Amino acid sequence: MEPIHTELQTALEVGTVASMVKANGYCFCGSAFFNQADFYDEKEWNAFADSFNRLAVDKYMKDNGTYRLRRFATLDYSTIDRVLSYDLARPYFQAPEINSLNGGIVRHFDPMEEEIVANNQFLRGLLQWAYNALEQLEGPSDWETTLHQIRVLARMDEQGEPTPEGVHRDGVTYIMMMVFNRENVVGGMSTIYDNERNPLIDVTLLPMDLIFADDQNVMHGVTSILPDQVDGYRDVFVAAFTKKN
Ligand SMILES: [Fe+2]
Repeated sequence: MEPIHTELQTALEVGTVASMVKANGYCFCGSAFFNQADFYDEKEWNAFADSFNRLAVDKYMKDNGTYRLRRFATLDYSTIDRVLSYDLARPYFQAPEINSLNGGIVRHFDPMEEEIVANNQFLRGLLQWAYNALEQLEGPSDWETTLHQIRVLARMDEQGEPTPEGVHRDGVTYIMMMVFNRENVVGGMSTIYDNERNPLIDVTLLPMDLIFADDQNVMHGVTSILPDQVDGYRDVFVAAFTKKN
């Protein structure tokens, strides 16, 4: 466990995001929103986006698919003392009732690159922005956060499933998902649903577009991706926040 003392703040308005999540269960924030963030830096964005080229195949896919590559990390953060720490060794577990395809087993994914988790200023700024929004939503709290860097391949011989488990929730308190790259793919439309599975919004996320959602009050799913003439891929970063107290 490596502590990071963070003084990083963002001027980006989080009150609006928090109130939209409270009112609607989700908030869509487009790339224009993050382009003007004080933590946006093209070099840092590119470094994080480029790290998706160094992911390993997810060996735990019960549908035997080889179309998903990923890395994983866990963070602990308290909005009380504002100390962030990261753990690259902690495994990932989802209950079988949350993930019918791959839940019920402890999964040891390759860790995210330490240089990215510890030092990437775009990631650090994005997370601090999210924690500021969570503080507005829930007051002072401790959060366990799982970070997921996922590439789904769309190949001429095998379509890619961004959410092979179908419409689902992650079984946490809040989630955010941001697309980093979309190369030679069609499809991959995200839909947010209420708990009765009525669709609330359809959006095809482009790089730097993000959805922030209340995982207990909405569900989500992403349609298949298909190659556009040649093999392609879609890279997404997901942070899943669980309130510990
Ligand atoms: Fe999910």
